[in-house]
Amino acid sequence: MGIINLLFHENFSLATHNTLGLDIRARYFCSAENLQDLSEVLAFARDGKLEILVLGGGSNVVFSGDFDGLVLRIDFQGMEFDDQKVVVGAGVNWHRLVQHSLERELFGLENLSLIPGLAGAAPIQNIGAYGQELDGVFVALAATDLSTGEELVLTRSDCHFGYRNSIFKGELKDRVAITQITLQLSSDFLPILEYQELVNELERRKIDLPTALDISDAVVAIRKHKLPDPSVVGNAGSFYKNPELSSQTLANLRHSCPNVPSHKTEQGLHKVPAAWLIEQAGMKGESVGDALVSTQHALVIVNKGNARCHDVLALAAKIEQQVQSQFGVLLEMEPVLY
Ligand code: EPU
Repeated sequence: MGIINLLFHENFSLATHNTLGLDIRARYFCSAENLQDLSEVLAFARDGKLEILVLGGGSNVVFSGDFDGLVLRIDFQGMEFDDQKVVVGAGVNWHRLVQHSLERELFGLENLSLIPGLAGAAPIQNIGAYGQELDGVFVALAATDLSTGEELVLTRSDCHFGYRNSIFKGELKDRVAITQITLQLSSDFLPILEYQELVNELERRKIDLPTALDISDAVVAIRKHKLPDPSVVGNAGSFYKNPELSSQTLANLRHSCPNVPSHKTEQGLHKVPAAWLIEQAGMKGESVGDALVSTQHALVIVNKGNARCHDVLALAAKIEQQVQSQFGVLLEMEPVLY
């Protein structure tokens, strides 16, 4: 290995690097701003036989305890617009990208306004909100293989996107660091107004023909009103995916529970709001230690201050058991658990 430029912090607190605010420690922590940094990091990890955990904004991770390896924060910056395409460094704040695109009158991200986290993390869970998903604008990404250092390019089809899912939660989990994403935006604006809540908000604002900026502003207002702000109270957004049930399972559920809301997916399954199941199971406001099922939105677990990993996991186990025994539905965690 050549000269080491990077700072490798030892026994480093990750409290400000995960939005749930869990005060856990990494054996080593460092940030990489470019490929040169990244190759130093890989060499350091190889020499020390350290496992690497790649972290973006830490807004979609839950830790089960301290991490006895190297936590790597990806801090690649830069947004290069070329006609209707944009190439974005993985460390760029997601909402900043949305705002920049809107300023340039490039559309396709407006419904994804105010999602916490960094651009490079967006493909991992195929972020989605208010009828828009990342894969609708996604072209390709650049990544580095953590064990070989090889630089890879993955196209949209390589990423196996699904509902809050991708190859990075499966086959490639913990095997690559995403360094850059490329999106295809559009200068033609096609409003996506599938969500009644969004339509209602625009009506409330007396907007008949919304611009992309109007949609973005409305989404920001809804999110601020509905979801606890991670910079005020620790949380990792939706803690569970909305379960997708077969027609038969939904029919069985409707038998005992006729008013369960559902929404048909393109695959012919029925998405049922996990928040509704959790609330009906009486878990809204339930807590273990300082981990609490948000009284604002039942799908969010918040940290009242000093929640420990096992509080969060014990609360999650309680929710899952209660929903399973009352409705026979298995909830699947949405953030990545380490
Ligand atoms: N509901 C309750 N109790 C609550 C909150 C909601 O019963 O405390 C019920 C209501 O019936 C409501 C339904 O749940 O109509 C759905 O709630 P909401 O519209 O808030 O959406 P969600 O399904 O809970 C999903 C995404 C969010 C995204 C919104 C808007 C998932 C796992 N979550 O939430 O994404 O912002 O739709 O598109 O798909 C995230 O992934 O972190 C996230 C916040």
